[in-house]
Amino acid sequence: MTSRSGSGRSGSGRPGASKPRGTRFSGRGLHNRVKTAKGRKTSSKMWLERQLNDPYVAEAKARGYRSRAAFKLKELDVMFGLLKKGGRVVDLGAAPGGWTQVAMNAVGPKGKVVGIDLQPVDPIPGALLIHQDFMEEGAPERIKAALDGPADLVLSDMAAPATGHRQTDHLRIMSLCEAAFDFACEVLAPGGAFVAKVLKGGTENELLARMKQRFAQVKHAKPPASRADSAESYVVAIGFRPESGA
Ligand SMILES: C[S@@+](CC[C@H](N)C(=O)[O-])C[C@H]1O[C@@H](n2cnc3c(N)ncnc32)[C@H](O)[C@@H]1O
Repeated sequence: MTSRSGSGRSGSGRPGASKPRGTRFSGRGLHNRVKTAKGRKTSSKMWLERQLNDPYVAEAKARGYRSRAAFKLKELDVMFGLLKKGGRVVDLGAAPGGWTQVAMNAVGPKGKVVGIDLQPVDPIPGALLIHQDFMEEGAPERIKAALDGPADLVLSDMAAPATGHRQTDHLRIMSLCEAAFDFACEVLAPGGAFVAKVLKGGTENELLARMKQRFAQVKHAKPPASRADSAESYVVAIGFRPESGA
């Protein structure tokens, strides 16, 4: 299903974070303890404590962003100048919608953001959201139709659920990255940019070589909002060069 809801900006509503239960502010940050650990697994208690003490989670809540991931895109944008007013952006793996919110805010009402995810995404004013597997036949065509013109930026934060098996997880994310790259080459305008999530070890050499042929610059970046203990990083390719004759 494709949905477009109204126009205007998002991510700026809901001022002020509501104070989570058990929050203690010391002036040096958040210090939350999960007191009711009875019957809860240690790992889930640790996850909850980390969420409650994570300044990005608090800031995302304060700014009305649906995910702390929103800050990864904001930081990548500061590093590489990716988002432009009036631009056309594709957001692959958009749920719950943090990147779409940031992109929509940046491109403004004259721009266009098309997001796709396996999970449904609640409407984001101005954005077109497709609920479908990007790897499914027909999905790229639906995005192109919704985009209605060449893209300035293709983003992929797609990640399959982790299996815990390093090599399997790496292969799965690389196949998503490769599909996203092939799609980017079909839809990007000359000079456009591509960003994709990869795992530690970076992008595979063969894919990296293909990227370098099609973009003026290809770099790896780990924005500060990406947790230090997470294996993720991003490959950022700038200055798309269409194939001669394409
Ligand atoms: C880390 S989350 C994205 C977070 C998002 N950037 C944000 O700011 O809210 C990764 C998303 O990729 C989606 N995903 C994974 N494989 C996909 C596929 N084949 N097609 C579409 N979405 C996919 C998952 O459903 C998940 O919602």
